[in-house]
Parts: sequence; structure tokens; C-alpha cells
Amino acid sequence: MLCLWLLVLLLGINSVEPKDRPNPNELNNYHSNKAIQYKEFIEDCTMAKEDGIYTTYLPGTRMNTSVRCVASFFGGGWTVIQRRRENHLDFRRNWESYQDGFGNLYSEFWYGLEKIYRIAMSHQTEIFFLLQNGEGTRSYALYDRFTIFGRNNNYTLRTLGEYKGEAGNGMQYHLNMPFSTYDRKNNEPSNGHCSQLFWGGWWYNNCYTSNLNGKYPDREELRSRCFRCITWTYFQQYRPLTFVQIMIRPTRNVQQRKIG
Ligand SMILES: *[C@@H]1O[C@H](CO)[C@@H](O)[C@H](O)[C@H]1NC(C)=O
Ligand SMILES: *[C@@H]1O[C@H](CO)[C@@H](O)[C@H](O)[C@H]1NC(C)=O
Repeated sequence: MLCLWLLVLLLGINSVEPKDRPNPNELNNYHSNKAIQYKEFIEDCTMAKEDGIYTTYLPGTRMNTSVRCVASFFGGGWTVIQRRRENHLDFRRNWESYQDGFGNLYSEFWYGLEKIYRIAMSHQTEIFFLLQNGEGTRSYALYDRFTIFGRNNNYTLRTLGEYKGEAGNGMQYHLNMPFSTYDRKNNEPSNGHCSQLFWGGWWYNNCYTSNLNGKYPDREELRSRCFRCITWTYFQQYRPLTFVQIMIRPTRNVQQRKIG
């Protein structure tokens, strides 16, 4: 009996192999551009065998929607909730757009606060920020317990959990802040209108240490500091980023617990 338990324990440890951060090769070699449309229906991205666009349920409903999944990076199972890579899509959008989502899953998009809320509510969720500067250097930040409140609380950033990464803890300053857009100022009342000043919708405080829905930099802006651009200040101060991908998935710990 004891032997059996040991065997189960060992097998369990070997097959799950908890790895709490990506290694540098993994980070630098991950190619994010694969965007094949799969016909397959999946419950969620943890079932995706390859990177691509799938049909899934709109979280919490029986209605179909599309989702962009990443299977090839850092253990897979990721749902992409935001993506920036070119200067083709304006992220200066109103509240309703940020709530419902906008853009194109094949290129650049914001998945939508309501969907993000529902996904994060249904499982204990980790969130990964993949960041790249104009020279192609990548960095990342990872939080193991991401939750936001629902629409009645303006999608306030509720928890982040523990920070791990190399880019710096750029979300901490935004914890407990509601979401703001140019038509809804929810940042600290005594301050200016952060979303209007800095372009995107975000959990602005006074105002930010990360601004990933900011303006995509043009050539001029790439050369210097750009306060309204896509930035993560602990990584590059106010020098704009040119590739960002934000992804979420159920935490491994929870999966392990389920298995064990
Ligand atoms: C959802 O998508 C699946 C797979 O493509 C399809 O079989 C099903 O009929 C769709 N359901 C609805 C409600 O559209
Ligand atoms: C949500 O935002 C709206 C518009 O900015 C504001 O009027 C409302 O008081 C906020 N709700 C909460 C619960 O903070």
C-alpha cells in the first residue's frame, strides 16, 4: 500500500513537473504569430494542442465565441487576452469597447473585460505579461492569482497574487484600481484624467507604472520617451514597447490538487 502511494506520488511529480517560470530560451524562441483557425470546439484553452484560434463557449454561457490559445509556450493552456504587435489598431476606445472587446484575434486585440472577468472567476488564474522592446529584447511578469471584479465594480483589479519575473512588478501599483477609459474616469479623483492623457483603457491609478493599452509607437516615438505609448516602466521606463501579449490560465497548483 505504501509502495503504491509512493509510486503515485513519484509519477505525479514527474508528469506535472511544476515549473514556475519560463526559461530564457523559451521566452526568446516563442513565435507568437501562428494564427491558424481550428475547426475543433474546445471547452477552454487548456484543451488546445496547438497555438491558434478556436471556437469555445463564451465563458459562463452556452453561446459560441472565438478564442486565441497558446499551447507552445511555458506549459501551454493560455488564453490570450491582449495582443499588440503593429500600428494597425487604435486602442483609444470607449468603455463599451473595452467591456466587450475589440480588434482581430489574428493580429491585435483586447479580448474584453467581461470575458476576462468570467474566465478569471471560474478558476484560480495566473496572468502572464510578455513584453518586448523596440530592439527585440523580451522580458516578462507573472502573477499567480489574478482576479477582477465585475461590471458593477468597474472591473476593479481585485488580486494579483505573487509577482515573479524580470520586467518588474508593474501591476502592483494598479491593484484595487477600477478600470478607466477616455469616457470614464475612474482613477484617483484628485488627479487628471489618466486615460485621456495616456491613451488606453487601463486600471489607472495616478497614473501608471504599466500602460499596455497605450498608443503603438511610431518611428519618432520609438526613439525617445513616450508617456502615452505602450510602456512598462520598470522594464524600459518610458521607452515604448513594440510587442506585448497578455495571457491567462488556470494555475498549475490547482490542477495538481485536482489530480492528486
Ligand atoms: C458551437 O460550435 C460548435 C463547433 O463548431 C457547433 O457544433 C455548435 O453547433 C455551435 N453552437 C452554437 C450554439 O452555435
Ligand atoms: C463606476 O464608474 C462610473 C463611471 O465612471 C461611476 O459613476 C461609478 O460610481 C463607478 N462605480 C463604482 C462602484 O465605483
